[in-house]
Order: sequence, then structure tokens, then C-alpha cells
Amino acid sequence: MKILITGASGLLGRALMSEFEGDTSFDVLGLAFSRPKGTLRKVDIRDEDGVRKIMQEFQPDAVIHAAAQRRPDIVERDEEAARTINCSATEIIATISDYAVLRVPILYGQIETIEESAVTTLLNTLVNQDNVDLVDDCCIRCPTHVDDIAVVCRQMCERRTTDPESVSGVFHWCGADFMTKYTMIVTIANAFNLPHGHLRANPVQPAGETPRPKDCSMDRSKLVSLGIGQTTPFTEGIQKVMKPFISKNYS
Ligand SMILES: NC(=O)c1ccc[n+]([C@@H]2O[C@H](COP(=O)([O-])OP(=O)(O)OC[C@H]3O[C@@H](n4cnc5c(N)ncnc54)[C@H](OP(=O)(O)O)[C@@H]3O)[C@@H](O)[C@H]2O)c1
Repeated sequence: MKILITGASGLLGRALMSEFEGDTSFDVLGLAFSRPKGTLRKVDIRDEDGVRKIMQEFQPDAVIHAAAQRRPDIVERDEEAARTINCSATEIIATISDYAVLRVPILYGQIETIEESAVTTLLNTLVNQDNVDLVDDCCIRCPTHVDDIAVVCRQMCERRTTDPESVSGVFHWCGADFMTKYTMIVTIANAFNLPHGHLRANPVQPAGETPRPKDCSMDRSKLVSLGIGQTTPFTEGIQKVMKPFISKNYS
């Protein structure tokens, strides 16, 4: 099965590449833009002709479209630019293929920098002990490991080969831990024995920033009913992801 992965250099894309490349039944081509490392092909997804050309050349059986501008505040600051990245290529890919949408909440996983994920960047708040900081203890985030999303995507592709109709429409996946930013920080602090007494739980929904939903939990039941899914416990996933950074900088 030929799989084309856009955004293959990103947080999710790297996990997708590793999941699909680890299975010899898949022939994988990954696309990147500013980080076309190794086997990744550089394609600007704002270039319609470039996207069509790669689709014609590679003739994928499935496209996993993970290239996007995903930061809500950047999207709001320049909606036109975000629309070009988030919609143009999506429209091209959607017109030439059947599609399923997989909605996910906040992601974490193997990171290149601590700021790469909104989960791991919480370490910066944790280690900055100069001020007493109020941390959101209101909005439910359900942090989700990218490796779990990669497994779900592989299973969805496999299922499509035997039962295409069942993998069509909109699907949801998320981690099984219902957490706020505050409970995530405390979990990280406890996992690495770091002090967190300078942080206070804020039970009020944050104002003044780009609004996020109060509850980001997703209903996994549709995928579970197809026998699809994997959930890594947050305590386990976050320890593996952050250990190299914490050992290097804070122990
Ligand atoms: N991260 C989260 O917490 C989160 C939460 C919910 C949903 N999602 C969704 O999950 C998907 C993947 O997100 P992510 O976290 O992996 O994002 P990411 O780490 O920011 O990666 C974005 C990817 O898009 C590529 N890209 C950006 N502009 C491009 C362009 N003009 N042409 C070609 N490629 C371009 C980047 O390539 P280069 O780096 O090579 O430039 C990178 O591979 C997105 O649809 C996002 O909205 C993410």
C-alpha cells in the first residue's frame, strides 16, 4: 500500500513516518517544507501544481495530510495565510480521493525542542521559579501521544483495504487522561522530582488569549467499535519524552 504523508517533518508527521516505515507492507513517501531531512521530499503545499504533480507521480493509495499551521493564535493573527496552508492542499487532496477526518486534541511526543509541543513547553513554566504563577486548572485537555495517533492512522488505513465504507467520515481520538494544564505540570514535576510550590491552580477559564474549548476530550467510541485504537498513559508517555531534556538541563 502506497502512503503519502504530508507534514512528515512535524511533531505528528515524524511519528507517522516511523509507524508506517516500520511495517514493510507500506511504501511510504513523506513531504516536508523547511525541514526536508533524509528521504523527505520538499513540497510547498501552497503550490497547487506541486501537490498535483507529487500525487500523479507517486499515485498513493492513501494520503495522510498532517501539514498545517496548527497554532490557533498564529491562525487568528493572519487568517489569510493560515487559510492558504490549511485549506488549499486539503481541497486538492479531498477532490481526488475519498477521505476520513481524524480530529485530535493537544499532542505530545518525541520533540526536537521543548517548545515544539504545548504539553512539553509547560516545563518552562515549571522551572521558572521567579514568580508565583497561576496555571489553568479549568480546561480539560486530554493530552495525546503522537505514537497513538500514528497507530490509529495505520489501523484506519489497514481497515480501509478490507472495509472501505467503515472508514469514511469524521473520527475522533484522544488520550485517556482527563487533565488540565495544572495537573499536567504537577504530573511532570512529580515524575522528575521537581519543585512546583510556586505554581497555583487557577479554576477560572483563561481570558484574553485565543479562546480554546473548555473541554477538549474526544469521543473515541466510533474507532473503538472498529477495533481501532491505542492510548498511552500520560505518566508513562511524558516521562519517556521529557527524560532526555530534563537529564541534560535540570538534574
Ligand atoms: N500539535 C498539536 O497539539 C495538535 C493538536 C490538534 C491538532 N493538530 C493537528 O495535527 C496535524 C499535525 O500537527 P503537528 O503538531 O505535527 O504540526 P507541526 O509540528 O507544526 O508540523 C507542521 C508540518 O506542516 C509542514 N508545513 C507547514 N507549512 C508547509 C508548507 N507551506 N508546505 C508544506 N509543508 C508545510 C511542516 O513542514 P516543515 O516543518 O518542514 O516546514 C511540518 O512538517 C495538523 O493538522 C494540526 O492542526 C495538532
